[in-house]
Amino acid sequence: MRMYDVIKRKRDGLPLTEEEIRAFVRGYTRGEIPDYQASALCMAIWYRGMTVEETTALTLAIRDSGEVLSFPDFTDLRVDKHSTGGVGDKTSLVIAPIVAALGVRVAKMSGRGLGHTGGTVDKLESFAGLRTDLSTEEFMSVASKAGLALVGQSANLAPADKKLYALRDVTATVDSLPLIASSIMGKKLAANDDCILLDVKCGSGSFMKTEEGSRALARLMVEIGKGAGKRMRALLTNMDRPLGQAIGNSLEVIEAIEVLSGRGPADLRELCLTLASHMLQLVDRGTLDECRKMAERTLLDGSALRVLADMVECQGGDPTWVYDTGKFPRAPYERAVLAPKEGYIAHTNAEEYGLACLTLGAGRSRLEDEIDHSAGIYLYKRTGDYVKEGEPIAMLFTSREASLPAASERLLAATVISSEPPSPQPLVYEVIK
Ligand code: URA
Repeated sequence: MRMYDVIKRKRDGLPLTEEEIRAFVRGYTRGEIPDYQASALCMAIWYRGMTVEETTALTLAIRDSGEVLSFPDFTDLRVDKHSTGGVGDKTSLVIAPIVAALGVRVAKMSGRGLGHTGGTVDKLESFAGLRTDLSTEEFMSVASKAGLALVGQSANLAPADKKLYALRDVTATVDSLPLIASSIMGKKLAANDDCILLDVKCGSGSFMKTEEGSRALARLMVEIGKGAGKRMRALLTNMDRPLGQAIGNSLEVIEAIEVLSGRGPADLRELCLTLASHMLQLVDRGTLDECRKMAERTLLDGSALRVLADMVECQGGDPTWVYDTGKFPRAPYERAVLAPKEGYIAHTNAEEYGLACLTLGAGRSRLEDEIDHSAGIYLYKRTGDYVKEGEPIAMLFTSREASLPAASERLLAATVISSEPPSPQPLVYEVIK
């Protein structure tokens, strides 16, 4: 195979063969194909798209580029959940303990934040000393002992995606349907759980901005997963506004703990219970209604919170922080953002809110950047709320005082205040099976 010919075929809109796709992924992972040729192919895919067969071949090649996990000691059905990425999306920190509290073992690999979106691994590392870089043996052992292990992706899991994702991130080729679908599903199939629930975000804070684009992505990933023998389900959910009131690592952990304690913002709690019910149904725990009632019970009786504390302890963190969230370090600088006029909050651009949070130090612009776990934004007012002029709509937290004016400006520019209330939007648009 000549890489030149593969690029040219895709550039001209012709489908690639499975053999060509596998040779590309293998060669690029081994460093035999240079970045400039891989970039050219990604851009050709971005323009020309891929058929379902090509996307499936790319997904399986990414899966097979490294280790495919096996769980010889776990006999029950295992379930994984993946979000396509959003702002304020801390659902994994709530759902995984709920499901584990009901006896479904969760051994989950999660990602770090990049761009405007946050990542579960960065959030978890807000617990001082908590390790997310467990060996495979440690990972399995924590999952057995606590019922739940949440770790970062091991270096040998889908290494092709690590390289490709980093390349796409700097070549404006992230937002391509076949490239996103194969990236996510390649990793999920390598993690090799029996059932996969996808939370496909849609709206201003997601990678796919339109409902049609998100629906197409969800359908494609469900089809690929089913083709690989997995039980699949996708929920198309609202990411046109940040989820919950907290954005930023330790603020989001604290809000997740609130929900696990039976409190917390209604939208976050509702989405977590909906996702958890679908996960439980996927592993045959009952009807959706029965699963929902079981999930609710774990929030009221404290069992889901206990699982989180056990996991934190097993992974090297201090479990008392779960019961006393005042122990999370507080950012040294704070600033309230005041409403410039009276009216309804008609729209909040979630991507811009995520970027304002990044300015405060909560995320990375480059993979090697250090994160300020205490940085973030707490929203007092959200889409649909009424504000008076001069009333605080948000509080900014940071260790970099100089970042406060720019973050405040960005947040205000992303907030539309109007005399008319916005029309309500659903939290879940559709369930795709
Ligand atoms: N998340 C992923 O893992 N990959 C993508 O391409 C986009 C979001």
